[in-house]
Amino acid sequence: MKYQWYPGHMAKARRMMEESIRLVDVVIEIVDARCPASSRNPDIDRMAAGKGRIIILNKADLADPAVTARWSAYFEDDGIPCLSADARRRVNVRALTQMTRKVCEERNARLRAKGMKTDHVRAMIAGIPNVGKSTWINSLSGRASAKTGNKPGVTRGGQWIAVGSTFELLDTPGILWPGMDGEQTGRNLALTGSMRDEVINIEELALDLITFLLKSYPGVLTARYGIDESETEETARDDMILRPGTSLNAIRCMEDICTRRAFVRKGGGVDFDRAARAILDDFRSGRLGKISLEKPPAKE
Ligand code: G4P
Repeated sequence: MKYQWYPGHMAKARRMMEESIRLVDVVIEIVDARCPASSRNPDIDRMAAGKGRIIILNKADLADPAVTARWSAYFEDDGIPCLSADARRRVNVRALTQMTRKVCEERNARLRAKGMKTDHVRAMIAGIPNVGKSTWINSLSGRASAKTGNKPGVTRGGQWIAVGSTFELLDTPGILWPGMDGEQTGRNLALTGSMRDEVINIEELALDLITFLLKSYPGVLTARYGIDESETEETARDDMILRPGTSLNAIRCMEDICTRRAFVRKGGGVDFDRAARAILDDFRSGRLGKISLEKPPAKE
């Protein structure tokens, strides 16, 4: 496979995640709104069975709003309350607190009926690297406390952050690993930064992004780089050094970007590496616009 997930710490992360889930009433799963399916872990349904569930479509500020609305409906239809959010700007942080209480209302009412005094909710945040877990914990706790980064250093003893008087949050996130089911998933995770750039051929990734944009978001490349997008349908032949299936139109677009931005190598010739970095950076920071990489599958 072209995009490889790094397997380090997976078993440890899984064990810690399972330990943490036992301590909480609600599992708040954060996914990247630009690729909610690729940025989920398929095991979470099993691991969080019997717990309250919420999905946050985070980084919604970078995703196509119409597609995000469809994803919300998709998860809600599965019975999982869903919130689209921008943790960086603290959009919908309060809504999450309310939603978490609501998810637990039924359980607390049951416990109260048995004479137990409870209106307390314990929750944890979980997700694959880079989806915004630490940013969420920091936003909810009102301080810059959660460690950012991708180390699965979780929960020995369970440290809790009080979010208001009845809501407690585990202070370290549960790190999940992506499902990595197929090339598209790998590509989406590489594009959204959940996979380290060092393990990726970034020129190929940028070409994949250009090919996707030409098809799914026509006009975006012209608007940003002033290049001509006219389609030729041509793809690389098997006898070319390029990966079979690579769009020649994408390569031409990349060359045009190099020319327009003066990305030229020292001895002359186009500098694809610089162009690739520029395109990926523009996509990841939202400068290409609000773009979603995948749509929800049709339900039967
Ligand atoms: P993690 O714990 O799940 O690994 O993710 P973390 O919170 O560390 O966030 C990863 C990156 O995503 C950070 O950017 C963070 O600021 C950004 N981020 C989190 N939520 C959102 C959001 O809703 N919208 C947008 N646009 N970005 C978000 P960074 O560049 O790695 O760090 P920093 O420069 O912001 O500190």
